[in-house]
Amino acid sequence: MSTATPSPTAGLAGVIAGQTSICSVEQGALIYRGFEIHDLAENASFEEVAHLLLVGHKANPSELASFKDELIANRALPPVVIDYLKTTASMFADNTTVPMDVLRTCVSILGNLDADSQDNSPEAELRKAKRLTAKIPTIIGHMQTVIDNKPLVAPETGGDAKLSHAANLLYLMTGEKPEDKLTHTMDVSLILYAEHDYNASTFASRVIAGTLSDMHGAVTGAIAALKGPLHGGANEAAMDMLKEILEHLDAGGTVQSFMDNAFTEKRKLMGFGHRVYKNGDHRAPILHALGKAMAQSRGEEFVRLFKVGEEVQQIMDDQKNIKPNVDFPCGMAYYTMGIPVPQYTPIFVASRITGWCAHIMEQHQNNRLIRPIAEYVGPPESKWNG
Ligand SMILES: CC(C)(COP(=O)(O)OP(=O)(O)OC[C@H]1O[C@@H](n2cnc3c(N)ncnc32)[C@H](O)[C@@H]1OP(=O)(O)O)[C@@H](O)C(=O)NCCC(=O)NCCS
Repeated sequence: MSTATPSPTAGLAGVIAGQTSICSVEQGALIYRGFEIHDLAENASFEEVAHLLLVGHKANPSELASFKDELIANRALPPVVIDYLKTTASMFADNTTVPMDVLRTCVSILGNLDADSQDNSPEAELRKAKRLTAKIPTIIGHMQTVIDNKPLVAPETGGDAKLSHAANLLYLMTGEKPEDKLTHTMDVSLILYAEHDYNASTFASRVIAGTLSDMHGAVTGAIAALKGPLHGGANEAAMDMLKEILEHLDAGGTVQSFMDNAFTEKRKLMGFGHRVYKNGDHRAPILHALGKAMAQSRGEEFVRLFKVGEEVQQIMDDQKNIKPNVDFPCGMAYYTMGIPVPQYTPIFVASRITGWCAHIMEQHQNNRLIRPIAEYVGPPESKWNG
């Protein structure tokens, strides 16, 4: 019989599973290494936040310049990854894969090609983290052009060296230099998504790193964890649900009747609720405001989308006291920007890669194997032959 204390709640809810100096997620505030999320969203760039998370402190101007240069220099993908991406056209056509799965495979291939792949020293891990941060937007961009049956955008360089990380991601996906408003919204969304302590994918990456496995392996596992609709996949699922609501309205229904049906069916409304935040997600209003402002200049279709979204939020709040998480406004904002829905969660990866790598490095620098125990609730012992 086990002498261990059983876990008090399912899903490790409320359990402190370790320490971190990277991020604090609380009802009152979300803090990255001492800086509050509203402050970062308003005053920092994604590159600055990436430096803060990966290197561990706010960059001075010369540190920032060389950090940006390193990211730009590492944007291009190796030919092996480009060749693989080209083969995915038929897989997308046959509906046997989705962008998150292709991104996961690309990261795994990058691990096979990285000169530091088996080196878990802090110096090697920082080099790998920068390379992954630089290359993931290029994977997403090239993948989208393969899906659209268009030529890859600047494959030799991985984009335009004059463009920021956020702008270059949009450029690689479309071949067009984005307007400032779009770039700004993308940049802020990348800041908001970058880090969130022991969320499911980060915890998965720490469990993998805790066995002293390598960074690319830990990131590959984290991508698989992020894909699920209860986690990062919720930004795609939220937009799919909003499209369903718009169809319901076009067929003569109301938002209230859609929600009543959803409540009767005990359906989970995507982009709502959170394991930690019970009074609302600090990131959601920031992205909602930016997306809504952008919608005004993008057309009536998008203004209507935000109106419907706000009605859904009001009903959830009034009838269930459940608030939107960041994935709900993200779905609406990315849709307004014209981004294809299946790329929403890969873009989340383009941001969270910084948080994951920071945690993998932290885990390796003070490692202990993560191996909890389970409470056995199966059949009692019996004899195989009797
Ligand atoms: C995020 C999430 C997984 C958190 O789960 P959790 O901490 O286990 O929360 P619980 O499932 O215990 O929720 C508590 C109650 O609120 C309800 N609830 C929570 N989120 C809900 C949602 N999105 N829609 C409808 N009801 C919800 C639960 O059904 C439960 O009700 P009950 O007590 O009557 O059974 C959950 O809120 C969810 O599935 N949300 C939708 C997916 C999503 O947006 N994920 C992204 C998270 S950032």
